[in-house]
Amino acid sequence: MISENVVGFKCIKCEKEWLLKQVKYQCPDCGGNVEVVYDYKKVARYRDEIKKAPLKDIYKYIRLLPLPDITCACHTLPVGGTPLLKSDTLSDRYGIELYFKDDTKNPSASFKDRAGAIALSVAVQFGAEVVSCASTGNAGSSLACLCANSGVKSVIFVPEKAPQAKIAQLLLFGSTVIAVKGTYDDAFDLCTQISEELDFFNRSTGLNPWTREGKKTVSFEIADQMQWDVPDFVFVPVGDGNIISGVWKGFKELFYSGLIERIPRIVAVQSTKSDAVFRTVKKYEGKDVTPSQIQVEKVHATTIADSIQVDEPRDGLAAVLSVRESDGFAVSVSDDEILNAIKEISSITGIFPEPAGATAYAGLKKALDERKIPSHSTVVCLVTGSGLKDIQSALKVSGSPITVEKNKAEVLKILKDLKIVR
Ligand SMILES: Cc1ncc(COP(=O)(O)O)c(C=O)c1O
Ligand SMILES: [Zn+2]
Repeated sequence: MISENVVGFKCIKCEKEWLLKQVKYQCPDCGGNVEVVYDYKKVARYRDEIKKAPLKDIYKYIRLLPLPDITCACHTLPVGGTPLLKSDTLSDRYGIELYFKDDTKNPSASFKDRAGAIALSVAVQFGAEVVSCASTGNAGSSLACLCANSGVKSVIFVPEKAPQAKIAQLLLFGSTVIAVKGTYDDAFDLCTQISEELDFFNRSTGLNPWTREGKKTVSFEIADQMQWDVPDFVFVPVGDGNIISGVWKGFKELFYSGLIERIPRIVAVQSTKSDAVFRTVKKYEGKDVTPSQIQVEKVHATTIADSIQVDEPRDGLAAVLSVRESDGFAVSVSDDEILNAIKEISSITGIFPEPAGATAYAGLKKALDERKIPSHSTVVCLVTGSGLKDIQSALKVSGSPITVEKNKAEVLKILKDLKIVR
């Protein structure tokens, strides 16, 4: 059963509306991705209830989730309710109010737990026995984590070269892990074929409309944590484009439900080595086109930020529309800028991001250089995954420890030379 607040689906590409029972994953007419539509007037009746409840996890926003009630949620693991951390140092440096939304604090240490929690709860509602997913690593390890806790079987397809920590998570959480000798895009296609043939509930990003329902909760939390105001800009790392489309949907839904009075501008950040969405945004900049006229670019992606290394963004159109409709923009940053952002975020805020998790901040720095952010703006950068998931990348910028003999005098001299002590 799905919440009675849900009225159906709308195709993001051809904009046709559908009843729930008419759609399995994508638009039956054009094959575009669909999004879940709610009765926002009905939701608005719960405005005060939503505002007053304490923020513990994503289920605070049950009225804007597809689940009929809280008992249907896989909520023994605390998904969401992550810190919104202001950096005074960086705010002063840039003359803005800068916040980091620290989603490394989710159960499997990435933002993807938001999506997995809702998709898995829906799968359980639909009576699914096996859930599947193609993943660059995090979506899979998140689903595996949640499945371990819920007793549902999972089959996860990852590129063979996914970072080892993510593979270790998948295996230890008890998934059947299929490591595909190929790219994420190859894993995606294989997962789709197998899931269709064996009738698995396929949570793969972009294809499955329920993941966006989890991802949008980050916007609910940001507004909530800002006392139901919103920032001027939200910077989002983009691979398939599902997180950014969730961020945009979340703010729109709060606006439709009367919970906020304005909507932020959304900024898509990609690596120059995986920049399909960036290129598409640029291509259509200033052009008056309908969603179905937009052709999302394809690239040969090679970035070090494995989580956003995507040739063909599976929710690319929704990502491009998020930027266009919110009057935002897209930025691309080099892999070196991403690695430096890991170092800066870690050393200044105490949050330890993986490369994709540092990408939004790298994008903010680029946008500041390009004078796209007026002074005093309020900015939120999403930090979407933990650095512990990809130590190899972190070590590229961490520097080395100081190795010494067991000798006190030597250590004292080093500390003096470094001016740690006088
Ligand atoms: C840490 C991290 N950041 C960003 C992204 C990008 O999300 P999306 O593919 O929805 O654009 C991912 C996706 O795997 C991720 O794991
Ligand atoms: Zn359609």
